[in-house]
Amino acid sequence: MSEQVKIRKATKEDWEKIYKLYNSLSDEDLYLRFFHLYRITEDDAKRIASNEDHVTYLAEIDGNVIGEASLHKDGEFSLVVNRNYRNLGVGTLLVKKLIEEAREMKLSVIKFYTLPENIPMIKIGRKLGFKLRFHEDEVYGEMRLTEKELEVVPME
Ligand SMILES: CC(C)(COP(=O)(O)OP(=O)(O)OC[C@H]1O[C@@H](n2cnc3c(N)ncnc32)[C@H](O)[C@@H]1OP(=O)(O)O)[C@@H](O)C(=O)NCCC(=O)NCCS
Repeated sequence: MSEQVKIRKATKEDWEKIYKLYNSLSDEDLYLRFFHLYRITEDDAKRIASNEDHVTYLAEIDGNVIGEASLHKDGEFSLVVNRNYRNLGVGTLLVKKLIEEAREMKLSVIKFYTLPENIPMIKIGRKLGFKLRFHEDEVYGEMRLTEKELEVVPME
């Protein structure tokens, strides 16, 4: 399956495909993606596709967008995969791509928040090497990307 999936950066022209993906999601999916229940508008889809203050990657099969992942400048990301295409490795591919992107952007950290019952997201975080912190009502995953440069003290 993962051979047929294309992961690529979103362009402005993708907004309708993103809008279609979001309209196919359940309330629960939307809650998990945004941390609150929210039906996106066409303008929201255009904003996601714009890459203005974030970078969005899409997972596509035969021209249909089946997943979306957005990384923000502070290193926080979130993603969603259409239910019919879950448990096939698409979410993992998207997060791997965001880690690469975060390194290229020279971000010092990449991070996500999710709910304690979100087993697939927790599995992705654990598998890819995120440090996970479990709280009663949320799980925080973090991966440090750059080591603080050691201060070089000139020898006398
Ligand atoms: C989280 C999400 C993006 C994962 O997408 P996905 O394409 O199913 O992810 P993968 O196929 O890469 O699966 C990730 C892991 O979860 C496991 N998994 C997937 N669905 C599962 C399920 N229903 N129950 C238990 N494990 C599951 C997979 O087997 C895989 O485990 P592995 O790493 O040990 O092989 C998807 O479930 C989703 O869109 N959820 C709603 C939105 C959301 O929660 N977003 C995250 C916000 S940070």
